[in-house]
Amino acid sequence: MLTESAARKRASYYNQDHVFHFWGQLNAAEREQLLTDLEEVDFPLMQRLIDKWVLDEPPPEHFNHIEPIPVIPFDAPDAKETWEAGETTLHDGRVGIFLVAGGQGTRLGFSGPKGVYPIGPLTQKSFFQYHAEKILNLQRRYGCSLPWYIMVSRANAEATRAYFNKNDYFGLGQKNVQFIIQRMVPCVDTAAKFMLETPCHLATNPNGHGGSIPAMVENGVLDDARKRGIDLLSYFQVDNWAAKVADPRFIGYHVLRNAEMSSKNHRKNHPREAVGVHCLCDGKYHVIEYSELDIYPQLLQTDAHGDVVYYAGNPAMHIFTVDFIQRVYEHFDSFPWHRAFKKIPYIDETGVLVKPKKPNGYKFETFVFDALRFIQHPPVGLEIAREGEYTPTKQYDGDNSVVAARKSMNSLWSKWLDAAGSPVPRQANSESAITIEICPAYALNQNEFVEKSAGKTWPVNGDLAIDADGNLQYTGPATVPA
Ligand code: UTP
Repeated sequence: MLTESAARKRASYYNQDHVFHFWGQLNAAEREQLLTDLEEVDFPLMQRLIDKWVLDEPPPEHFNHIEPIPVIPFDAPDAKETWEAGETTLHDGRVGIFLVAGGQGTRLGFSGPKGVYPIGPLTQKSFFQYHAEKILNLQRRYGCSLPWYIMVSRANAEATRAYFNKNDYFGLGQKNVQFIIQRMVPCVDTAAKFMLETPCHLATNPNGHGGSIPAMVENGVLDDARKRGIDLLSYFQVDNWAAKVADPRFIGYHVLRNAEMSSKNHRKNHPREAVGVHCLCDGKYHVIEYSELDIYPQLLQTDAHGDVVYYAGNPAMHIFTVDFIQRVYEHFDSFPWHRAFKKIPYIDETGVLVKPKKPNGYKFETFVFDALRFIQHPPVGLEIAREGEYTPTKQYDGDNSVVAARKSMNSLWSKWLDAAGSPVPRQANSESAITIEICPAYALNQNEFVEKSAGKTWPVNGDLAIDADGNLQYTGPATVPA
């Protein structure tokens, strides 16, 4: 571990001596804690970020020409070879699953890791469990093993591990679920100083989902994947219960086009929808963040029908080749960083915790979609329909919320029940009158559900949850006439 004198020297060289302000009051364990925090800091990187983003205000990136990306429409007829390629790749065990679950989940305000949030309205199943059940289904279907790599942060690693342990890894086997920890970055105040969260702890944040790239390499994910014969990683975010994990169609396009990184996209609902947009900027693939829409106003254009021209919203679902991740890692020094001005709790000089009401400091993060800058072959851009695939959960109510996610479950699964010959009672607004949950280990899509429902009549006169074996796990009291 870093010695006190080495840490002081380093902090002093970078004008951060103040982090030792409480040193005299710390016990041995607390001193060790502070030294551990400081050891993790990449001081030269922090200095670069401070010079660029705190002491200066760099102009936004300039592009001469921005155009929409080429997209494979979600209802495009697929060649037989596309599905075959995807299914064969899965069957051959060439795919690993990569989940990012290291975020702080600030907007949801849940006390545990976001992946543990009980999103299932009847079963209280967590996001993690939903994803695990999708993996179980695919493994059974394709007779393969799909190792699951989960990126967590120092802040939620222990709780996430304990949760999987308690739930026996949802039947996936401990050796097929690996946790990797992303790096943290110090928060910096407007005077360019690192902030303290406690007298012995820097205020830090995880280094963004782009941190998955160094985390994969430095935590041995790529080595493990190679040993297992895996050359593709299916990447998705924890807070989207509907994400199609290791989607054979997507994999098929990716493989046949020899892509290094592929991305799904969805039609934006309106020009100002809070989602990044896939674009071609001076001929190169980029995602422009929604916070930058006013910098590139052409992104707000609509056509004669009122449709958004730059419509390819980014749902953060990608496929990466293992070799591509390795290459991006080798150039990670030139990977872009982003800055956000946030309300960051800190302790003042007297040791009192201050919870600011207005933004008071900077968080620095990397975004995984910036890996698109490093591609050498054009990526696949596959459009998805939102229902059944994209319902991110950022807060409890409103857009992208728990309430909206649960509504999307009901909307999707009521159609499956209708199609399976058990028509769901509707309210006046045509929404389902009952609450429904269908376990993804039982059925991943409507076809599978209809097939497995042959000869069955589901009791749709009250709430119902169907488990992995097609048994009724929960039936509420009959609330509507049979
Ligand atoms: P968001 O950027 O939406 O952040 O992350 P969040 O943590 O879920 O929520 P807020 O912004 O604090 O309210 C999108 C996905 O990226 C992961 C999150 O866990 C989520 O799956 N992520 C984000 C990381 O794994 N690490 C990070 O540093 C940031």
